[in-house]
Amino acid sequence: MANRVYNFNPGPSTLPLDVLKIIQAELLDYRGTGMSVMEISHRSPEYDEINNQAIALIKKLMGLGENYNVIFLGGGASTQFAHIPFNFLQKEQIAAYVDTGIWSSKAIMEAQNFGNVHLAASSKNEEYLYVPSVDEIDCPSNASYLHMTSNNTIKGTQYHKFPDLGNIPLICDMSSDILSYKMDFNQFSMFYAGAQKNLGPSGVTLVVLRDDMIEKINNGLPTIIDYSTHVEKKSLYNTPPSFAIYVVKLILEWIDGQGGLKAVEDNNRKKKDLIYNIIDENPDYFRAPVRKDSRSWMNIILRLCSDELEHKFISEAKSKGLIGLKGHRSVGGIRVSLYNAMTLKGAEKVAEFMEKFRRNNG
Ligand SMILES: Cc1ncc(COP(=O)(O)O)c(C=O)c1O
Repeated sequence: MANRVYNFNPGPSTLPLDVLKIIQAELLDYRGTGMSVMEISHRSPEYDEINNQAIALIKKLMGLGENYNVIFLGGGASTQFAHIPFNFLQKEQIAAYVDTGIWSSKAIMEAQNFGNVHLAASSKNEEYLYVPSVDEIDCPSNASYLHMTSNNTIKGTQYHKFPDLGNIPLICDMSSDILSYKMDFNQFSMFYAGAQKNLGPSGVTLVVLRDDMIEKINNGLPTIIDYSTHVEKKSLYNTPPSFAIYVVKLILEWIDGQGGLKAVEDNNRKKKDLIYNIIDENPDYFRAPVRKDSRSWMNIILRLCSDELEHKFISEAKSKGLIGLKGHRSVGGIRVSLYNAMTLKGAEKVAEFMEKFRRNNG
């Protein structure tokens, strides 16, 4: 489409054009209702179908067993930082956290309001430019759970392997890499993700909990905070962010239509290789601050020799329709976010731009 840019924003981020076109086509009259999804009741049969299909597709794409519960909540992933200890931690108990950046630190801060936090591993000593290996994670045997962040959106690091903790629940914030490659989702007791990177628009957070987690929920919680309320009511205890969930359902269909997670993974691998290869082939020009074994497929951080040159890179890229390449305000530099909806063509455009920029500004 002529006036669409290549959007590398870290979130909210680009959505698949095919999905946007379906939204456009169904906007004014959703399947003969004479209303948009925004206008129909969340108690209507039409919405019930959207909700059911979204849940079924999550389970199908992730290969989740019958013992997993899929819910959609408002409030963003940050709300889960508080909801998790609210539900699963008590004053005298310990929760273990792996600290791999700003998002993990925020989750830790919330947990400290509820009970004791044990730092199971941290990469703070090296400015979060790597993720501690699974073997380095030291989780006490009496921990209520271990919390990890699978992909660190700001620093550009990622876990591809997770610890086996036996009976200790493993909880993961997957906000910035959910459904981006084939993995065993059944190894987690709970995981969650704000939708606005790989799943859809902002406004909805996917939360998945195994049955045994429901049994562990603290007593006497406010109804709206208690995860079991939302599980029992299939995310319809109160009004859900219905339009956002409808878009999530379309994204899940889009993933399924490509052949599921294997196809998504193949595409994501090609995209990240294009960019990392240029960085590695030109180490005197492009610098990747993240340790090689911890590199994120979703958020690639790169640096040039000066702030001025980085600024020039970002603004020239923008003038060529490659937008959102500025690093997070807390770290600076350049960040190429390659979520599922970014096409291979988009990654190729950035790669070409990097090559040209290097030649012209050597
Ligand atoms: C890994 C991770 N966790 C949590 C969040 C916070 O998400 P939200 O803004 O939906 O609260 C973000 C936001 O970018 C993130 O990248």
